[in-house]
Amino acid sequence: MLSFDRVTVRAGATTLVDAVSLEVAAGERVALVGPNGSGKSTLLRTAYRARRPDSGTVVLDGLDVWRAPVRAIGQRTGVVGQQHLADFPLEVAEVVLLGRAAHKRLLEFDTAHDHELVAHALDAVELAGRAETAFSTLSGGERQRTMVAQALAGSGQVLLFDEPTNHLDLRHQLALMELVRAHPGTAVVALHDLQLAGRFFDRIAVLNSGKLWGIGTPGEILTPDLLAEVYGVRADIAAHPVDGSPMVVLL
Ligand SMILES: Nc1ncnc2c1ncn2[C@@H]1O[C@H](COP(=O)(O)OP(=O)(O)O)[C@@H](O)[C@H]1O
Ligand SMILES: [Mg+2]
Repeated sequence: MLSFDRVTVRAGATTLVDAVSLEVAAGERVALVGPNGSGKSTLLRTAYRARRPDSGTVVLDGLDVWRAPVRAIGQRTGVVGQQHLADFPLEVAEVVLLGRAAHKRLLEFDTAHDHELVAHALDAVELAGRAETAFSTLSGGERQRTMVAQALAGSGQVLLFDEPTNHLDLRHQLALMELVRAHPGTAVVALHDLQLAGRFFDRIAVLNSGKLWGIGTPGEILTPDLLAEVYGVRADIAAHPVDGSPMVVLL
């Protein structure tokens, strides 16, 4: 469904993403982890057509992301990026409705179907009661959930979320993870929380200094070696008491 083939991104003399190859199957959920500055956002951006790779290709649903029309990629993806509309003078539902833009022609009217998808997405992030609130008055976590709703409203098959749990309290972090798990399509989610990565994702891909350090199941990836080599911390791995998923215990 989504494949990166030797994707390389440079900025001047620095290599931000270094020949990363990675295949994500249809319906698979992959967490993208790695230290700050390891290239997670940059890699995701190559997939949602925000940053053109200097070399290598990204293929999404059979389309070469950087050769296909931008709308074709927009229709197939649901994106939560790292930068947000800070003080957009729109109501919450209007911000979510922007998620339908890739499905419309310029000046085309919004349909009942669009409004239905917006209402459904707002409901999914528990903002149904805030549809007419000014976006600029929301808290950081509410803004973040609005952006998730916008991504869901686009009904794209491939979710590309960049640190979507930022600003979210514990309950909303869990709710968001459940949403990603319930999404019938594919998802690639950049995350800092290794616990969530280990519990809610089929595989974890680790970036380190722009390179793919490893990819595998949570059990294969979450090891004391990873924590030492990539994060520079001493840690043990314990089994989650309920589902046995690997949990990081910092020493
Ligand atoms: N346009 C740019 N020019 C120069 N450096 C950049 C640019 N964009 C990102 N970087 C740098 O590239 C590295 C990778 O960034 P990023 O992909 O945002 O990492 P992550 O999301 O893993 O924290 C960082 O060191 C960042 O400062
Ligand atoms: Mg980032």
